[in-house]
Amino acid sequence: MRRPFIAGNWKMHLTKAESIDLAKALVDLAPSGASADVAVSPPFVYLDAVAAVVHGTSIGLAAQNLSEKPNGALTGEISAAMLRDLGCRYVIVGHSERRQFLGEIDSLVFEKANAALDAGMTPIVCVGETLEQRRAERTAEVIASQFGGSLAGMDADRIERVVIAYEPVWAIGTGVVATPQQAQDVHADLRKLLTSRYNAAIAGTVRIQYGGSVKPDNAVELLNQTDIDGALVGGASLNADSFWRIVTAAPKGHD
Ligand code: PGA
Repeated sequence: MRRPFIAGNWKMHLTKAESIDLAKALVDLAPSGASADVAVSPPFVYLDAVAAVVHGTSIGLAAQNLSEKPNGALTGEISAAMLRDLGCRYVIVGHSERRQFLGEIDSLVFEKANAALDAGMTPIVCVGETLEQRRAERTAEVIASQFGGSLAGMDADRIERVVIAYEPVWAIGTGVVATPQQAQDVHADLRKLLTSRYNAAIAGTVRIQYGGSVKPDNAVELLNQTDIDGALVGGASLNADSFWRIVTAAPKGHD
């Protein structure tokens, strides 16, 4: 049974005080033993403050990015070990905003995901097609190529520790959500890619989140699709109530 995993990606939003307040509100809402794993991903500079709030609760901490290098003279970069030191359990890798605007390519995403694993964190590796690619009916090909370049080079014992996030670029921050069927189709394709590269047992273990305009009113239908194991939530994660309504929309899990 794959336990659902709902992560809130706060992106480059909020002040320190707002981050702390949001984290506190979530801790208040979190019952002991929610049926989903939950994490929040504040900007780097607020990780420490948010860590102090969520420490010892059921809410995990995620960073939004990391360096692919373990340490060194790399001004402005942040290593996996530093994030681990602050209490991060997860790190988002290869978000489409970084692929699109910050030049991250599959080989770099692969290195970053491995750096996270080396430090004992779970990378949330993002893949997804643009609107142009979807219109040209190239979605399956784009996803297969991102899977090949960002994930498939890992050994079986590493891929089992990865979370994949399918985030169609055209659905991110646009209010245009993929239909449950559109999302399910790509998730099923990803699981097939896992089966052919690894095996059915591994494909049945790896969690695949959906991201892109997930809101309380569309979460139930999305999260109930057989191959959708959670959500990576942007805009709706900036409000404790709407984020928590998404968390509670998750079913117990899928086999
Ligand atoms: P959104 O962002 O929910 O605001 O569309 C999702 C994401 O980018 O992870």
